[in-house]
Amino acid sequence: MDNLISAQNKLNAVGFLDLDTDNIDYISEINKLRKEKNAVILAHYYQRPEIQDIADFVGDSLALAQKAAETSADMIVFAGVHFMAETAKILNPSKKVVLPDLNAGCSLASSCPTVDFEAFIKQHPNHIVVSYVNTSAEIKALTDIVCTSSNAEKIINSIPKDQPIIFAPDRNLGAYLIKKTGRDMVLWDGACLVHEAFSIDKILKLYQEHPDAEIIAHPESQEHILKVAKYIGSTAGLLDYVKKSPAKKFIVATEAGILHKMNNETPGKIFIAAPSNDDSCNCSECAFMKLNTMKKLYLCMKYEMPNIEIEESLGKKAVKSINRMLEISK
Ligand code: 13P
Ligand code: SF4
Repeated sequence: MDNLISAQNKLNAVGFLDLDTDNIDYISEINKLRKEKNAVILAHYYQRPEIQDIADFVGDSLALAQKAAETSADMIVFAGVHFMAETAKILNPSKKVVLPDLNAGCSLASSCPTVDFEAFIKQHPNHIVVSYVNTSAEIKALTDIVCTSSNAEKIINSIPKDQPIIFAPDRNLGAYLIKKTGRDMVLWDGACLVHEAFSIDKILKLYQEHPDAEIIAHPESQEHILKVAKYIGSTAGLLDYVKKSPAKKFIVATEAGILHKMNNETPGKIFIAAPSNDDSCNCSECAFMKLNTMKKLYLCMKYEMPNIEIEESLGKKAVKSINRMLEISK
């Protein structure tokens, strides 16, 4: 993360982000650049609404990796966080992959430093390593199979029953998977700061005020939140669930950016973002995801920077675990 910050600071130092773009119509300029450069804009559901609206494709981590793997575009513009753009670059080493803000990291990915994880693997010999996609390229290179919250259960179930497993880095998703699959996995102790911040007391209070609502949650949330959820799933799973459920109101325990698509795709239904413990912050929003803005999206497409670079031998090691995931998820 420190490296990312210093790289972004260098860009700021050359005045890249200070350019005066006040008179620029971002929507029409981004559309022009997309055509001129044969670029594809991939956006995660946690991105700002205006970024989701201009993207070619909006999806969860799995769908975004699948799109990145199959694109014929010359440039991939990743409106998401660093590990997502890095995954796209690992899958497309010869393509340009740009990220609007290099500081768009992830607390889960940062909770798993390479040196410590290497030592952890050594402490558990003969374990297969399954890592969530929210990890650095270095961690993916130490991993046997990558997973996302959409396919994690399927991936764990594809591993022979007598094979011990390390699961990293999310302890909440890991604990949830232990329950779902009955597998006794060794867990890395990492977490997402957004999903850890939800307040069970405030969620239950909200539920008392809206007894007709259904509580739905992302599996990165803590166990006491998952216990009260009617449905647990990835961002794409949650979106799909609210479309199918006869309920008209939902308390949504995941990053609040998903409410944009939920509102657009299910008019007439009501979505309430689950409250967090701290009233003084906007903790149900991921500050990393929200670093990307229309201005930065425009600038990164125009100047083709910041772009993601992966050292060749690292990319070759990391791609194996991503490809295994894509293969199992077909
Ligand atoms: P999914 O989109 O795979 O559900 O993951 C959520 C997330 O944490 C992205 O950072
Ligand atoms: Fe990482 Fe959590 Fe933000 Fe997703 S919501 S990018 S897991 S910090």
